[in-house]
Amino acid sequence: MILLTSPAEMHAWIRSLNGRPTIGFVPTMGALHAGHEALLQQSQSENEATVLSIFVNPTQFNVDADFDAYPRTVDRDLRIAEHHGVDAVYMPSTEAMYPNGWRVFVEPGTASDPMEGGGRPGHFRGVATIVTKLFHAVQPHRAYFGKKDYQQLAVVKQMVAELDMDIEIIGVDTIRHDDGLAMSSRNVRLSEQDRTAAPIIQKSLREARHAVASGLTDARDIEKLISETIGTEPRAKIEYVTVTRARDLARTEYIDETSVVCVAVWFGDVRLIDNIELHLPY
Ligand code: PAF
Repeated sequence: MILLTSPAEMHAWIRSLNGRPTIGFVPTMGALHAGHEALLQQSQSENEATVLSIFVNPTQFNVDADFDAYPRTVDRDLRIAEHHGVDAVYMPSTEAMYPNGWRVFVEPGTASDPMEGGGRPGHFRGVATIVTKLFHAVQPHRAYFGKKDYQQLAVVKQMVAELDMDIEIIGVDTIRHDDGLAMSSRNVRLSEQDRTAAPIIQKSLREARHAVASGLTDARDIEKLISETIGTEPRAKIEYVTVTRARDLARTEYIDETSVVCVAVWFGDVRLIDNIELHLPY
């Protein structure tokens, strides 16, 4: 496994490869968990080489304190990468990625507007910019993103399509704890009581899926049902519950065959997001 720490080193490694092996790319900010491992496994099974990036990207944080507090577990991350047979780890410094500060940005499309876009201004502009920079460095054939960050996946897919990037974007199913809580680097920050309460999110989403299977199609009714279930847990504070069209995350009145409901819920000072795809029963 080779460690590369600048765009120039990454380019040189790509040029040194014999032939043009298919490259699968897993971009991360480190603090790897089972969700990231699933991305690495899928990349390994579908490509001749796998590149993992670890870079805590300052331009996607709205609050400096969140950037500073982001967990950094590099030694452990590298052991996980090695274990999964990763060929190259791309781990540039902030100076290597942004030697002139940040003067040029990639403007994300409409998929960035609702939900996270409202509460975290500039977040997806930072994501679109860093993902583009990483894609230019790694030049992957396929890139793997978790469906837990459903909106991020939609923003990246829209960007790749609209900017004619020749990269297949693959969404990988969310990995969950036994009690249904989605794996996330933020879970370690939950208090014991909040950790016990947090699976209410997944419970509410599964209830909604059952309701849809029984014929409920009105998007506002589905949002209400989910909100009421989460509302039974006094430790949970809902930020949004939104039913959208999966393709572009436009808000819809009724669900169709490609709908997804996304939620953001606070437990103390920890903000958790989750989602579930909804399918009509016919
Ligand atoms: O999902 C993440 O970890 C980040 O948003 C990403 C895609 C690595 C960009 O910094």
